[in-house]
Amino acid sequence: MRKVKTLGLLGTGVIGGGWAARALHFGIDVLAADVKPEMEAWIRGAVQNAEGSLARLTLAPLPAKGKLSFTTDLNAMAAQVDFIQENIPEQLELKQRILAQVSRHAPADVVIASSTSGLMPTDLQRDMQHPERFLVAHPFNPVYLLPLVELVGGRQTSVAAIEAASRFFIYIGMHALKVRREVPGHLTDRLQEALWREILHMVNEDVATTGELDDSIVYGPGLRWAAMGTNLIYHLAGGESGMRHMLRQFGPALKWPWTKLEAPELTESLIDKMVAGTQEQAAGRSIRELERLRDGYLVAIQQVLKQYNIGAGATLRALEERLYEDSAAGARQRIQGSIEEGALLRLVDTEVRPEWIDYNGHMTDSRYLQVFGDATDALLRYAGVDDAYRASGRALFTAETHVTHVSEARALEALYVTTRVLELDDKRLRLLHALHRKSDDALVATAEQVYLHVSAGKVTAMEADLRSSLARVHAAQAHLPLPPQAGRVGKLAAR
Ligand SMILES: NC(=O)c1ccc[n+]([C@@H]2O[C@H](COP(=O)([O-])OP(=O)(O)OC[C@H]3O[C@@H](n4cnc5c(N)ncnc54)[C@H](O)[C@@H]3O)[C@@H](O)[C@H]2O)c1
Repeated sequence: MRKVKTLGLLGTGVIGGGWAARALHFGIDVLAADVKPEMEAWIRGAVQNAEGSLARLTLAPLPAKGKLSFTTDLNAMAAQVDFIQENIPEQLELKQRILAQVSRHAPADVVIASSTSGLMPTDLQRDMQHPERFLVAHPFNPVYLLPLVELVGGRQTSVAAIEAASRFFIYIGMHALKVRREVPGHLTDRLQEALWREILHMVNEDVATTGELDDSIVYGPGLRWAAMGTNLIYHLAGGESGMRHMLRQFGPALKWPWTKLEAPELTESLIDKMVAGTQEQAAGRSIRELERLRDGYLVAIQQVLKQYNIGAGATLRALEERLYEDSAAGARQRIQGSIEEGALLRLVDTEVRPEWIDYNGHMTDSRYLQVFGDATDALLRYAGVDDAYRASGRALFTAETHVTHVSEARALEALYVTTRVLELDDKRLRLLHALHRKSDDALVATAEQVYLHVSAGKVTAMEADLRSSLARVHAAQAHLPLPPQAGRVGKLAAR
């Protein structure tokens, strides 16, 4: 199957918009197709709305943003893209017809996936050409922040299609959960539906309001679910002997008629109670406001979970590791060439992303540190400080930074960083980074930084290989004249 450079979207509503925002953010071009021309403005707005929270998800170096195009010609879209994600309304006949149609225009090595919440892949692929490249890839709203995507193959789906889809979704920062066999509602929606039915029963019977039922999740199980789900948490509920004890102790309750599972009749009175209850919970806040609130905490939760390398945080950590490694791989060849020529190292090529701009229209201070940090990261990865090195408890920590601002960096301006090793000993490294504008090579800013080699919280000597890689760079640059900005932070000897 193809490597995905351009993602084709079929249907650009809530879910299509979410896919677009996620793919564009991680450098994939998007060609969006919808029967309604007015959806172009809508999807552009949806992508813009998602940008603020997506930009806060990770500070790892990102590839240049993808480009978004729109068409109402579904067949032309299918002929031009490397992967198609279908997000049209949840109606079996409509999806069957449109999937069959686009499959006749998409080359055989283009995977076609459906976002369907619960339809079966075997039914959806029935009339398609090359049905083996079809699968269900069910995401969760907001697609740009929630990493889960359930992958479900139908009777005709090939392993190659599932594997290619999985690689692509992981590339754009997702957790691809392969569902062993197709069942209506896949995995997650079956679980959600069970809870949802109980909620409707309890509201219907005036046992609780919508707000009280949400509180019963938000203050308790919801917090546990985010990292451990239901089963692992219940394993903990059984004390030392875990799940076995838990089942013995609480097993008999399974026979009691706690839950109903058959959905209640959706009467007008039940609908009114659900609407009034959720309106009271919204307390006058618009859907947009509530979405911003939700997106903000979804980013924050994932960053906390990253510290524990668990659940969605583990997905985010793996994504960041890949982004740093991709950026370092781009720099690696250039570093080798520069060492041979005794030149400055060009470690980072980037652009001023719109979300880096402050209220004055310039790149905001913290982003300078981020870009210089990315340059240091690329150099250290080249020299041998990778994830395994850090996992062994050793790292180089920033002890001091001095930034000099020379000229302005504006939105979308292309920039690059050059780096010089000013000093090096067993335990310390002093670098001078220079940030340049690509268009005219003008100097934008410099950063002089001192790093200490630390192991288990103490300053220690670097490993010999690391030290000699850095020494090679230092020796190769020794003949270069010292720039005027050098020497502003404490010299090694003084420390
Ligand atoms: N909304 C969710 O929370 C959610 C979550 C996961 C999966 N899904 C699934 O994603 C799919 C889309 O859901 P949504 O909520 O984005 O719906 P939506 O109504 O917001 O968007 C559907 C889009 O499809 C377009 N469309 C209709 N017919 C079309 C056609 N023949 N060709 C091209 N475009 C066409 C519509 O113009 C609209 O823009 C459904 O299968 C749904 O089950 C939804």
